[in-house]
Amino acid sequence: MRFSNSVVALAAASSVSAAVPDVNDGNKNILKGAYIVQFADATVSTDSFYSSLSDKKISTNVRKNFDSKVFAGTSFHLEDNVQTTLDTIGNLTLVKTITPVRLFDRAAPLGLDMAGLKKRVLSTENDVFSTHTMTGVDKLHEEGLDGEGMVIAEIDTGIDYTLSALGGGFGPGFKVAFGYDLVGDDYTGSETPVPDDDPIDCAGHGTHVAGIIAASDDPYVLGVAPAATLGIYKVFGCEGQVANDVLIDAFTMAYNYGVDVITASIGGASGWPEEPWSLATANIVALGTPCMLAAGNDGDVGLYYASTASAGQDVTSVGSIDNSNTPTALFIANYTVDASAPTEFGYALGIGDFANVSLPLWVDTYDTTEAADGCDGFPEGTDLSGKIALVRRGTCTFVTKAQSVLDAGGEYLMIYNNVAAGASSPGLDGSSITAGGEVTADQGAIWVADLAAGETVTLTFLSQNTLNITSPGSLNTITGGKLSTYTTWNPSNENTIKPVVSAPGGNILSTYLSSAGGYAILSGTSMATPFTAGVVALYLQSKGKGISPLTINAGLSATATPVQYNDGVTTYSYLTSIAQQGGGLINAYKFIHSGIAVTEANLAFNDTAHHVANAAFYVVNTGTVEQTYTLSHVPAANVYAFDEADTTMPATFPGLPIDTKYSVAIPTPKTLTIKPGAKKRVTLAVTPDASLNADLVPFYSGYINITGGGESIAIPYGGAATIMHNITILAQDNSVTYPYFDNEYATSTTDGVSTFKPSEDSIPYFIWNNRWATASARLDIVAVGAANPVVAAGLATVGSAEGYPQLWNPRGETGSYYASSWTGTLDDGTTVSSGTYKFVLRLAKVFADLNKGREYETYTSEAFVMDMS
Ligand SMILES: *[C@@H]1O[C@H](CO)[C@@H](O)[C@H](O)[C@H]1NC(C)=O
Ligand SMILES: *[C@@H]1O[C@H](CO)[C@@H](O)[C@H](O)[C@H]1NC(C)=O
Ligand SMILES: *[C@@H]1O[C@H](CO)[C@@H](O)[C@H](O)[C@H]1NC(C)=O
Ligand SMILES: *[C@@H]1O[C@H](CO)[C@@H](O)[C@H](O)[C@H]1NC(C)=O
Ligand SMILES: *[C@@H]1O[C@H](CO)[C@@H](O)[C@H](O)[C@H]1NC(C)=O
Ligand SMILES: *[C@@H]1O[C@H](CO)[C@@H](O)[C@H](O)[C@H]1NC(C)=O
Ligand SMILES: *[C@@H]1O[C@H](CO)[C@@H](O)[C@H](O)[C@H]1NC(C)=O
Repeated sequence: MRFSNSVVALAAASSVSAAVPDVNDGNKNILKGAYIVQFADATVSTDSFYSSLSDKKISTNVRKNFDSKVFAGTSFHLEDNVQTTLDTIGNLTLVKTITPVRLFDRAAPLGLDMAGLKKRVLSTENDVFSTHTMTGVDKLHEEGLDGEGMVIAEIDTGIDYTLSALGGGFGPGFKVAFGYDLVGDDYTGSETPVPDDDPIDCAGHGTHVAGIIAASDDPYVLGVAPAATLGIYKVFGCEGQVANDVLIDAFTMAYNYGVDVITASIGGASGWPEEPWSLATANIVALGTPCMLAAGNDGDVGLYYASTASAGQDVTSVGSIDNSNTPTALFIANYTVDASAPTEFGYALGIGDFANVSLPLWVDTYDTTEAADGCDGFPEGTDLSGKIALVRRGTCTFVTKAQSVLDAGGEYLMIYNNVAAGASSPGLDGSSITAGGEVTADQGAIWVADLAAGETVTLTFLSQNTLNITSPGSLNTITGGKLSTYTTWNPSNENTIKPVVSAPGGNILSTYLSSAGGYAILSGTSMATPFTAGVVALYLQSKGKGISPLTINAGLSATATPVQYNDGVTTYSYLTSIAQQGGGLINAYKFIHSGIAVTEANLAFNDTAHHVANAAFYVVNTGTVEQTYTLSHVPAANVYAFDEADTTMPATFPGLPIDTKYSVAIPTPKTLTIKPGAKKRVTLAVTPDASLNADLVPFYSGYINITGGGESIAIPYGGAATIMHNITILAQDNSVTYPYFDNEYATSTTDGVSTFKPSEDSIPYFIWNNRWATASARLDIVAVGAANPVVAAGLATVGSAEGYPQLWNPRGETGSYYASSWTGTLDDGTTVSSGTYKFVLRLAKVFADLNKGREYETYTSEAFVMDMS
């Protein structure tokens, strides 16, 4: 896809719609000119591939040559004339697929607090860390399991190994014993990586992750496996994204080092296992090294929004559960009211530094219910120089509020919360404000009342930032122990069940950059994933190295505790879908000590058209005496991708339709007697409730509980009660009028036929959005009254618009769209001659054969004239 002029695209949209949606820029995660080729098979050598290119006079700059056991392929930049050569390369018999290099994010953490005081040291003998007590890690520590001898590779932003909690150094003999910086600090995804030997962290994310796995000898943070050895492969600079070929390289390095577990809190919406990094990760798992990948933080988007690479075959995808307690880490300062004695208050820092500042507070309004305070600037003539602006949170972004302060000549912003949830770090990245922080709603109300009474409130900050850490913090009675609202809803686009398990990831205190105080509280599946890697390390320490990832996944899932549905406010009486929780809350103690096991992590029943009649698994007696086991059904809620009230786009969360019209699930046999060390086969037949509305794409699920010898484990199952192939892919929404042929920039329109002249910036647009994921989006060009020599997926065309077809697309989001402009250039790099054409947009149905035209939804534009002079 091409966005030659996205400003034009936005202007065009505003002319067709009252509510201007954001452009869903399908190109933002694609690295222009860079491609990954997957070879036809593992015997193809990179030499033979590149010499075939030379034979065809195609010049490339090689980016990465991969280890063929992990990924048989290579990546490169095309030197010039990008599009002409793509089809030629794709046509080579040596080549299976060619895809653009894609960029991925770290599973972006939410909220940020920093810290810096020390007192007692946490130890494994008396582990009171709340995430450990809620998962049984404390009991394993008590038994002496600490990860000693286990080697975990972390792929992330680097590690600040200078922190004593993380060993105080880097290299052999240190906790962080090996690793590599594959990219350099200035890398943001598009630059040429500048590798070096020092994987020190400058972003903080990787340091937080490392503390969750292995922090030790610290007053505030204790890792799950504090004696484990870490390797760190740094794949991010201080900001930005990472290209998938760099990720394949990092995973391969970790695999070849021979580590016991690989963990990566990285991903992005897509959920197609065919993506190269996803394939490489799945290959490493198949070769025997377990890989933990974040399930993603896109919970608000709704069902069927799996992340890459966590959607890969047998990859351990990890969802997030909120900490039972909410630790806090606030900086302390003083305030005075007129000439009163100083009173201490706590604030969370968002950006900059308040050190040495002593200035009076200013507010725009004394109304502490004003929702949009500071969103539209401040009154004419407001001068905020020498003042700290106190602004209520809400309606617009923190950055917008900061801009209002800057526009009025100010440089300091103190937000007060609009909900009674303490104070957390306001997201002010990208703002040029000198310093910005947040206080609680209560503190804000006190100050506003003082100001309303005509008093002067002065905030005075110390020269050294001083932290007040509270850990474990108050009990979270709203969402503690329940799925975090941001955790991504699965399954994958092909009905693979993810996540495998969920772990504490919401409100997690861990280590952070020493330059930023050394501690932070972050939330995300980024935090749940390393927790699970630490638990797997304890398991391998207890059972012995080299256990298959399949056994590990089955154990993690079956021993987890299924959790009730919570929408961020209320906990309901029924279990939430396995599409959100997988097996449930990780139970590290049961994972290691259970006397019962199963051989599958979950049972996928697929959709109605591919319904699995009898899914099979084995029950294994891992105990020491013969046992009789009883199998029973424990249902979980049905969730629906669409809401009956408006099926334009999938429903978002909270607000996903959910009900308890449970399936009938019958295991055969219902009781089993098994000798120690032996296993017996069970089959499961599931019939979803007949009244489920297939049009809304219901996902049903539940567990088969296996009890015996005073113990129980539960294996999750799930499927879609609809024919997925019948789901309408293209969103048709009258309020924003797409699909839509946009002739806003025509040079003229006569009798309904518009003429465009690209040489004068006059270009047609085709605007569309997809309500469901599509393996291939095609925008083909058909000549009217002239030859159409190129047959593409069953249609005679002149070729595809440049950048199309686009493979492995996630579904679009509400309020966004694809605006595809066309300058007359085709996918093979040639330019059409002047004439009359039509756009034919085709979106592959679920489970489509991409070569067959009838497996696509087709939308044809009106005819238009291209003047190529
Ligand atoms: C690719 O192969 C097809 C079928 O063999 C052929 O018709 C087409 O011209 C080839 N395209 C290129 C660019 O080589
Ligand atoms: C607040 O003021 C009191 C009294 O001057 C002083 O003892 C205390 O250290 C101050 N605290 C901070 C955080 O500035
Ligand atoms: C605050 O003042 C102290 C002492 O004068 C100085 O060392 C420190 O660098 C200052 N901090 C900032 C952020 O200006
Ligand atoms: C530190 O935090 C605790 C818990 O939030 C609070 O009770 C206490 O007042 C705080 N201390 C300071 C000096 O802000
Ligand atoms: C569901 O069926 C489709 C079509 O056969 C297949 O491609 C997909 O892999 C199946 N999914 C699972 C989880 O078995
Ligand atoms: C399985 O059954 C046991 C024994 O009744 C019970 O304690 C356990 O909670 C059940 N598991 C689930 C997931 O309901
Ligand atoms: C689903 O699609 C098939 C053809 O692919 C059609 O025969 C069937 O009627 C459709 N079913 C529903 C429920 O729309």
